[in-house]
Amino acid sequence: RTVAVVLAGGTGTRLGLGIPKQLLKIAGKPIIEHTLAVFEGAPEIDEVIVLMASGHVPQAQAIVDKAGLRKVSKVIEGGETRNDTTRIALDAVGEGDVNILFHDAVRPLVSGRIVRECVNALWTYAAVDVAIPSADTIIQVDENECITDIPVRSRLRRGQTPQAFRSQTIREAYRLAADDPHFAATDDCGVVLRYLPGTPIKVIDGSDENIKVTHPVDVHLADKLFQLAAAQVPRLTDPRSYSEELAGRTIVVFGG
Ligand code: CTP
Repeated sequence: RTVAVVLAGGTGTRLGLGIPKQLLKIAGKPIIEHTLAVFEGAPEIDEVIVLMASGHVPQAQAIVDKAGLRKVSKVIEGGETRNDTTRIALDAVGEGDVNILFHDAVRPLVSGRIVRECVNALWTYAAVDVAIPSADTIIQVDENECITDIPVRSRLRRGQTPQAFRSQTIREAYRLAADDPHFAATDDCGVVLRYLPGTPIKVIDGSDENIKVTHPVDVHLADKLFQLAAAQVPRLTDPRSYSEELAGRTIVVFGG
């Protein structure tokens, strides 16, 4: 059994809308509805559990009901931090060995390909992350905003979601974390890395389009990407596929 957990327990302070950003409508639908539709349509996913921000569970349930999302078994309240929300989700999944994919509700452009590759990788690995190379140089700074390190860019990736786990692994990692008074919030792969060191965490290719709606500009980007998807415009995701014809279309699409 494979369960997708959609993490929607946050309130989106950086976007600053006054409503949780996962409820914002983009391309005619709340962000979370786009996200849930991907998992509903993914043949690898059997069940979906939604963890919603406090006070907004009825709204999320209404979205699920209206869209007729039959794989969604539970819409419940999330926790104070993202890790608390993950813990609540682990309880909600129940006993038994299952595959669990944790996905940010605010990454509505995740693809069926990414979901499939995560689930397939769980045949070989107990923990799976999704990431893309970094176009920008990543610099490390100290508290005075002075550079302390510039790690080699070719080895750096930008982490996305889903993050996928065999249930025993993620449960064990969180059990160990619960005993650690110094536990500091990280993403879920970070919890496995820290508390079950030596567990290989496979990284599969994410996508530039799998953005996390975080800042106001992301709303415009996501809106444009949904427009392109609806118009079935070919994407320039692979530079090797740049042809004269495609390059011509790009100028029209992005310039016009
Ligand atoms: N999330 C969650 N529970 C929390 C905090 C965050 O489930 N207590 C979820 C968010 O709803 C989001 C994802 O984790 O889908 C990624 O988090 P982020 O983009 O940081 O969302 P917010 O916490 O809502 O945003 P901000 O940090 O700007 O407040």
